[in-house]
Amino acid sequence: TFPTKVKIVEVGPRDGLQNEKETIPAAIKITLINQLTAAGFVNIEAASFVSPKWVPQMATSTEVMAGITRKPGVIYSALAPNMKGLEAALAAGADEVVIFGSASEAFSQKNINCSIAESIERFRDVALATKQAGKRLRGSISCVFGCPYQGEVGIDAVVDVLHRMRDLGCDEIDIADTIGVGTPHQVKAVMQRLVQEFPADRLSGHFHDTYGQALANIYASLEAGISIYHASVAGLGGCPYAKGATGNVATEDVLYMMQGLGIETGIDLNAVVQAGQFISQHLGRKAASRAGNAIAAK
Ligand code: HMG
Ligand code: MG
Repeated sequence: TFPTKVKIVEVGPRDGLQNEKETIPAAIKITLINQLTAAGFVNIEAASFVSPKWVPQMATSTEVMAGITRKPGVIYSALAPNMKGLEAALAAGADEVVIFGSASEAFSQKNINCSIAESIERFRDVALATKQAGKRLRGSISCVFGCPYQGEVGIDAVVDVLHRMRDLGCDEIDIADTIGVGTPHQVKAVMQRLVQEFPADRLSGHFHDTYGQALANIYASLEAGISIYHASVAGLGGCPYAKGATGNVATEDVLYMMQGLGIETGIDLNAVVQAGQFISQHLGRKAASRAGNAIAAK
C-alpha cells in the first residue's frame, strides 16, 4: 500500500556538490543548507569526512558544519568511511553518521579502496563509536541495480550487505542506484525483496537520474512500501568514482510528484525552488530540475 507521508532526505550539499571541480566556498554551502533547513527538511546530508585527496570538494566539511544555523529536530548527516572520518564527524556535531559500502566488489575497491568484507570490518568500529556517542547510524549500499565497473550485481550480494549493515546496528539503510541504470519493475522487485529483510520504514531509495528513470523508480518503490527518498536540490551531483553518473533525482521534481499523489512531505516546494536557483546561479548553470525550472519561470 502507498504511504500517505514520506521523508525526503536532501542530499544536495553532499552528494550534489562533492563532484564539482571548482571549490565552492563554505559560505555558499552554508547558505544553501540554511535555505534547505528553512524549506522544512528534517534530514539534510550536509558533509562528508573523507580523504580530501579522494574528494577535494568535501574538505570544507568541518567549516560547513560549524557555520550552519541548526534547527532543533533537524538531522544533519555526514559521511564517515573510517575512524578518522568518524572522529571529525563527531567533532563537527553530526547528528547522524553515514557508513557507505557497496554491493559490488569492484565499486568498493574504486570508491573506498578496500573489499566489501574489509569495509564491514572498518565500519564495525565506526558503528560502535557512533552508537556510543548516542548518534544515529545510517548505512548506504551502492550499486544495488548495477555497477559501472562490473555491470550486473546480484540480489544475493545486496541482501548480504544489507544483513551486515543491519547487524552493525544501522537505524536506516539506503538502497542506492549509483549510476541510475535501474528500471521500475526491477526496482519494485528488489524493494519487495528487501522489505522482507529489513523494516520497510527504515529503508530508503537513493536514485541517481542518469538514465531518466529516477522518478519512475521512486513510484515503483512507493508501490513496494518505501517511504524515505533521497533527492538533490536542482538535481545537483554525481559520484566522483562512478564516471558519467549524473546527479540524484531533483528534489523539486520529487516534491511536485508527491504533491500530485497527495503524499505529505512537510516541505515547501517554492522554497526549494529558490534554493535550487541560488546554487545553480552560483555554479553558473541552469538547474537540472524540470519542475524547479518550470515553477521558477512562472
Ligand atoms: P586509503 O588511501 O586507502 O586510506 O583511502 P588510508 O587509510 O591509507 O589513508 C590515506 C591518507 O588519507 C592518509 O593521509 C590519511 O590520513 C587520509 P596521508 O598520510 O597520506 O597524508 N585519510 C583521511 N583524511 C581525512 N578524512 C578521512 C581520512 N581517511 C584517511 N576520513 C578512504 C581510504 C576510505 C579514506 C578513501 O578511499 C576515501 O576517502 N574514499 C571516499 C570516496 C568518496 O567519498 N566517494 C563518494 C562518496 S560515496 C557516494 O557518493 C555514493 C552514495 O551517494 C550512494 C550512491 O549513490 O551509490 C553514498
Ligand atoms: Mg549517491
